[in-house]
Amino acid sequence: MHVAEMDFEIAEPIRARLAQMVAESDLGYLGPIPEVAEAFERFASTRWGWNIDPKQLKLATDVGVATVEFLRANLKTGDRVVITSPVYSGFFEWLNELHIEPFDVPLNHTEHGWRLDLAGIEAAFAQAHLTLLLCNPHNPVGRAFDRTELTALAEIAARYGAVVISDEIHAPLTYGEFTPYLSCGPNAEKTGVVITSSSKSWNLAGLKAAFLLTQNEKMAARVAKVAPATHWRTSILGAFSMAVAYSDGGDWLDATVSRLDENRMHLQVELARLLPQVRFELPEAGYLAWLDISDLPLSAQQILEDAKVALVPGPDMGGATYENWVRLNFGTGKAIITEGLERIAGVL
Ligand SMILES: Cc1ncc(COP(=O)(O)O)c(C=O)c1O
Repeated sequence: MHVAEMDFEIAEPIRARLAQMVAESDLGYLGPIPEVAEAFERFASTRWGWNIDPKQLKLATDVGVATVEFLRANLKTGDRVVITSPVYSGFFEWLNELHIEPFDVPLNHTEHGWRLDLAGIEAAFAQAHLTLLLCNPHNPVGRAFDRTELTALAEIAARYGAVVISDEIHAPLTYGEFTPYLSCGPNAEKTGVVITSSSKSWNLAGLKAAFLLTQNEKMAARVAKVAPATHWRTSILGAFSMAVAYSDGGDWLDATVSRLDENRMHLQVELARLLPQVRFELPEAGYLAWLDISDLPLSAQQILEDAKVALVPGPDMGGATYENWVRLNFGTGKAIITEGLERIAGVL
């Protein structure tokens, strides 16, 4: 229940395309592939009412490479990047790779759930930390930020001339409404670059394909600074699978979201039954649960060693503040979710 991938079989149209490419020995370098932008254009407009500019889509190996290369091309020595912990551990690793120090503006944990600290983000921009790496939907808390919040963020970013990199890799797995950052009006278009992939939602992370997308010429110019080889370093299997996911993977996606929706409810019921000390708020997107284990006399390490259940320790998501939290992956079978919780309860 650790790494963010699902225990589900992949979508049939993707399997068929991969099998065909292998059968035809079509495994060389990736050339131009307009199919990705065409497929994502239809997907984004049908699902989210978002009209992209397909000409501004640029492929990259994966979301990590896309983000690192964008930052490498656009930041100068000493610049810091604003992040909003608790957040995906990869963000810390990517910044570390570039010797960039994160500037943390933690999310606010309110009675309505997790919210961006917009005043804190504005203060960071005012201190000239002018790049925000946003995670929307947010791993690990599962928040899909709403239009009001994102529009307010875009207004602040535009006022300070900041750049918002919006990592939307978990977006297709949103249970309710998902709001793409770039759909939030002119200020978002002026400030935003979306980095995403089909890899998380269609369970294809090992295939290596992602893209950067902008909706404004100035932001496109920033993406154009990314080394051209980033396109060619994308896998041909990954890129074609991504096109197929967006064009023909809708039924599989809908079935997966229903299954995950049942799983998150199952997790809630089973936590209340087996580990009532653990606090849990239903995620709005994705298959990751962010659990407050303050009242459990076990650490993530003890849960691993004694119960043999691997969870992501909270500190991986932003340091010691998250000592009493763990992230659990429920993208699996219900019986396994129950067994995991039973094993933890069994060592109490
Ligand atoms: C928010 C977020 N971004 C990026 C990634 C990794 O993406 P990639 O494998 O494309 O680098 C993950 C993986 O879990 C993630 O949760």
